[in-house]
Amino acid sequence: MRKQIIAGNWKMYKTATDARRFMQAINQTDWASELDIVICAPSITIPALIEELKGTERGIAIGAQNVHWEEEGAFTGEISVSMVKEVGARYVIIGHSERRTLFGETDEMVNKKVKRVLEAGLIPIVCVGESQTEREQGRTNEVVGMQVEAAFQGIEKKDMTKVIVAYEPVWAIGTGLASTPTDAEMVIAEIRRQISHLYDVETAESVRLQYGGSVKPNNIKSFLASPNIDGALVGGASLAADSFSQMIGAM
Ligand code: G3P
Repeated sequence: MRKQIIAGNWKMYKTATDARRFMQAINQTDWASELDIVICAPSITIPALIEELKGTERGIAIGAQNVHWEEEGAFTGEISVSMVKEVGARYVIIGHSERRTLFGETDEMVNKKVKRVLEAGLIPIVCVGESQTEREQGRTNEVVGMQVEAAFQGIEKKDMTKVIVAYEPVWAIGTGLASTPTDAEMVIAEIRRQISHLYDVETAESVRLQYGGSVKPNNIKSFLASPNIDGALVGGASLAADSFSQMIGAM
């Protein structure tokens, strides 16, 4: 039985002050869900979030949105896994489509980052997804399949079971045009099949697969009703404490 996981991706939103306010509001809401809850915040706000969570037993984990694949070095402006780990991050989003398209992140970089994150004992949330054009060309499974294969090149089976894969069709991100649960389930089931070919059925059955792209309080349930969708990676709707807790409540 895979544990469901909701992760908020705050992207480049919220100062540390905003982040504290969000967490204070969340700490006042009630939910009784048996699921993993993660906030992937701008790295600089992680210490503030960790501090707000202290002693609350809310079971919320904090994640980063990107790291460099090297341990340290002359990489101006970059942040290492050890740095985010030391301040309390337990997850790292890798290969988000915004990083791939706006910052030139390649499949090879994604693979190196996944390896580094796993080596450090953190959990990578690896994003894959096709563009609008690729979808129109009927290449969704091919594109997503190539991204999956490249991301996990050289990853051992024992590590693969820790990984989370988020299927985020690029055309659904921030557009309000979510995939249908049926379409998302088809692609995500295909990702699971592919992991079983690359590894084995047992490994594939243990990997948690999320859907992301215009997930909101009013549609999250329909995605999670699908047998292969184990959670959601949420952008815009994770920014307000009330919509984030509504989504948690709906799971
Ligand atoms: O990583 C989550 C994100 O890309 C989806 O964004 O705003 O469509 O939920 P949004």
